[in-house]
Amino acid sequence: QSFFKPIQQAAPPSPTKRHTKISVIGVGNVGMAIAQTILTQGLIDELALVDVNPDKLRGEMLDLQHAAAFLPRTKILASVDYSVTAGSDLCIVTAGARQGSGESRLNLVQRNVKLFSCIIPQLAHSSPDSILIIVTNPVDVLTYVAWKLSGFPPNRVIGSGTNLDSSRFRFLIADHLDVSAQDVQAFIVGEHGDSSVALWSSISVGGVPILGFLENQQITFTKETLENIHKEVINSAYEVISLKACTSWAIGYSVASLARTILREQRRIHPVSILAKGFYGIDGDEVFLSLPVQLGRSGVLGVANVHLTDEEAQRLRDSAEIIAQVQRQLNV
Ligand code: NAI
Ligand code: 2OP
Repeated sequence: QSFFKPIQQAAPPSPTKRHTKISVIGVGNVGMAIAQTILTQGLIDELALVDVNPDKLRGEMLDLQHAAAFLPRTKILASVDYSVTAGSDLCIVTAGARQGSGESRLNLVQRNVKLFSCIIPQLAHSSPDSILIIVTNPVDVLTYVAWKLSGFPPNRVIGSGTNLDSSRFRFLIADHLDVSAQDVQAFIVGEHGDSSVALWSSISVGGVPILGFLENQQITFTKETLENIHKEVINSAYEVISLKACTSWAIGYSVASLARTILREQRRIHPVSILAKGFYGIDGDEVFLSLPVQLGRSGVLGVANVHLTDEEAQRLRDSAEIIAQVQRQLNV
């Protein structure tokens, strides 16, 4: 029985309204930052949460549900059982170990690959047409692992990659020049982590190429100044982890921006981790690393044709080799 009285000449319910669903696996700092940022955007009708810790899972579900009066209407479900994720458009994986203070991302690989062998096949089974976004570290290696374990085509397996590093980079450049980070076009590519590559040659601010601008204005800058900004990007996560034990808010916004681009078919360009073999002279191993790619409803639509200097392209291949070395030790 309906709560409402029927109205005269009501139109039949629209059969074409699509239901949009995201699942988030792992309800720790990162999973919850992503979930709550996505909820504020009114992107989805249904959010499913999965974790191995049932109390934490129920607590987080209830806490989000209690914000219902302030958010666009979204059904929020949670379970330790993957059937709750069935029919997802997007599955976002954040489950797993995180770095201790001073620990590298690559050091997490053995622990997190083990978890993925349980998580990914269940997700692929419950939502065979979904797009996977991998966030767990080391994100590039684990995106490769997720691709292998899911059997999905590579356009539907994406690592959050350097979308976050690029935001840190844009923030630092914007701070330096006292402009909005949204007016800074700048990419970090390669590994999400220590061997990432800053694409200085293609940075522009408000459409003005930055290196040419600095030269024209006779603003002295040394290669060292630029290197220091990149070093600060690499050090960002280590610094935040040493201060608050994890990073969460920025990755929450970063992944929510990817979800929006994909589900709303925005066709925006994001630096994210994709199967990079065949691009910029990366051949040999099937590595995933970040390149500026166009994203849409079917996942990765294409790689943006950003020009790299010889030095940048070499650094990118070096980064690919570091990831490949870790991958060769895995048994996936
Ligand atoms: P956390 O420790 O707060 O949360 C991890 C969650 O995973 C816990 O709730 C735990 O119960 C759950 N979990 C463990 N095994 C599981 C399994 N088999 N199935 C389902 N859930 C399971 O850690 P936090 O801070 O949320 O970090 C999560 C991951 O995200 C780490 O690997 C971290 O390095 C990574 N990360 C990646 C970033 C990126 O830019 N790619 C940014 C920040 C963190
Ligand atoms: C970050 O860069 C730790 O990968 C994580 O915030």
